[in-house]
This record gives sequence, C-alpha cells and structure tokens, in this order.
Amino acid sequence: MTIAVTTPTGRVGSRAVRLLLQAGVRPRVLVRDPARLDPATRDLVDVRRGDLTDTAFVRAATAGARTVFWVDPTPPTGADPVAASEQAAAGVVEAARAGDVARVVLLSSVGAELRRGAGHIDALGRIEESLDATGADTLHLRCGYFFSNLAMSLDDLARGVLPTQFHPERPMAWVDPRDIGDVVAARLLAEDWKGRVVQGVHGPEDLSFVQVAEILTGALGRPVRVRAVGDDDVREALGAAGLPPGAVAAIAGMAAGTRDLVPEQPRDVLTTTPTTLAAWAYAHLRPALDAAMRDGAEGAAG
Ligand SMILES: NC(=O)c1ccc[n+]([C@@H]2O[C@H](COP(=O)([O-])OP(=O)(O)OC[C@H]3O[C@@H](n4cnc5c(N)ncnc54)[C@H](OP(=O)(O)O)[C@@H]3O)[C@@H](O)[C@H]2O)c1
Repeated sequence: MTIAVTTPTGRVGSRAVRLLLQAGVRPRVLVRDPARLDPATRDLVDVRRGDLTDTAFVRAATAGARTVFWVDPTPPTGADPVAASEQAAAGVVEAARAGDVARVVLLSSVGAELRRGAGHIDALGRIEESLDATGADTLHLRCGYFFSNLAMSLDDLARGVLPTQFHPERPMAWVDPRDIGDVVAARLLAEDWKGRVVQGVHGPEDLSFVQVAEILTGALGRPVRVRAVGDDDVREALGAAGLPPGAVAAIAGMAAGTRDLVPEQPRDVLTTTPTTLAAWAYAHLRPALDAAMRDGAEGAAG
C-alpha cells in the first residue's frame, strides 16, 4: 500500500507529505536533495534520492508503489518545455503501463482540457492522456491559478502595480497550493475512486485581477492597481531576458491560451477549497514584500 510522493519539498508536495504522516502513513519520497526535506519529517519518510528528469530513476523509484503523486518538475525555461515535461513523466507512465504502479494522482491545471494552445499547460494535457492510456487508475487534479504566483511580482507590487496578461475584469479560479496538498493527500489515501477521474481544485472563489488588486491593497497595507500587459509585450520581455523562443511561447501561451476558458469542471463543493487570498496574502505575501523592500532599500543605501 506504499504511497510515493514527488516534489516533497514543494508547496503542494510538502503539505501532502505532512498529512500522510498525520494519517499514520509512511510515504516514499522522490527527492533530489534530502537535506531540503523538512527536518521534522525527514526521518519519518522513505527516501529515494534522484532527479525527476531521470527516467530510469523515476521508473525504479516508483515501482512497487500502489499510488504515485506526480508533479511535473520541469521549469518552462528550456528550449522545448512541453517535450521536456512529457519526457520527465515517461518513467511514471512506463511504471503504470507495466502494472508496477496501480494509481497515479497528477498535479494538472485548469486549461489541460484544451490539449493544445495553452503553452506549457499543453504538457499537462499530454501527460493526462499518456497516463490514461496505461490502464492504471488516474486522477487529474486540474488546479486554478496558484496564489503563490503573486510572489513573482514582488518588484512590481513594491511599486503598487499588479501586472497581468489575463483579462483584468474576468474572474478565474485562484487557489492556495497548501489547500491543493490537502486534496492530494485525501485522494492518495482514499481507495474509493477507480478508472479515470478529473477533479478541479478552484480555491474559495473566482476572482478577477481587479478584485485581486483590491484584496492585496487591504492585505499588504499599500495601494495596488492592475496594469494590463499585452501578449506581445510579455513575449518581448521574455525574449529580452534571454529565454529561447520555445520557452517564450510556453510561458506567454499559458495566459494567452486560457484567458477565455470556462473550465471543464464547474465550481462546486468538490472543487472549492477554503483558504482566502486575503488570509494567504497577509500570511505569506506581506512579509515577503516587506523583506524584498527592505533588501532593496539596503542595497540602494549600501
Ligand atoms: N503555478 C500555477 O498557477 C499552477 C497551476 C496549476 C498547476 N501547477 C503545477 O504546479 C507544479 C508546481 O507545484 P508547487 O508550486 O508545489 O512546486 P514548487 O513549490 O515550485 O516546488 C518545485 C518542486 O519541484 C522540485 N523539483 C524541481 N525540479 C526537480 C528535478 N529536476 N528533480 C526533482 N525535483 C525537482 C523541487 O525540488 P527542490 O527542493 O530540489 O528544488 C520542489 O520540490 C507544476 O508542476 C505546475 O505545472 C501550477
């Protein structure tokens, strides 16, 4: 009944590991540097050390696990991020096809249902299809836009700006990755689901970027206003930062391809998770922004 968890040091994976431990389960974790595991949990898990982009390692490290939680580890910054993500999943796909793994829970995304035209999200659609073809039981958790993506905009937020490539006024699903970890752990532990299951993980409410800016204004204690950024401006900035054309397409394509999407899974009791953006931003983004602004001020003074 072994449960194997990838990315146990990540936001979602670390939460899932902790809940499995609290459920009395000793998970197997696939980790490239065990020193990065939470010291409180390090001795309570079975470690398989290796890189998730190493297909042979993943194939061997997942074998014999009844259930695997797969998180795509590849950043969208390489020459062909969609192909790289597909290749990274090859080991777990093979283990499932061979019957060495009975069930796979995939951290997927809203937009994976499009299958193409959504940049790097296309990779998750392809991994869904590859896993579905194995005959194993598969559960695809199609998550909304992580709250934690806001931490990529600290410099802009320090200037009171929230840039977005999405429609500023159009609501979409925003979710705390920790809450996703809760759903992951519950599904890893549950034995009731079979076959192919798709579940949305949509956070507490749909929010537009304009609403997000209002919430951040309160939670951060400083005014924040939205600035709409066009697809071409995003592509130009990514190219100017030195990213290869494939990475530019993969990153810019995510918002461009999903901004008009109505998710296949409607918001309901199964997809709605509890943590509000206001609570998350106060607990996580506010201290991160304060620290970034302090560092910036010290850098300017020094
Ligand atoms: N951002 C969104 O809005 C969104 C929406 C839907 C789905 N997702 C999915 O969410 C996932 C990210 O989840 P997260 O936020 O929990 O992750 P995270 O906190 O960013 O952590 C990344 C994890 O990946 C591990 N990792 C990276 N490269 C690795 C490699 N080559 N070998 C082994 N481990 C590797 C890291 O391990 P180390 O500690 O060793 O660095 C870390 O545990 C992505 O797959 C993405 O597709 C994101």
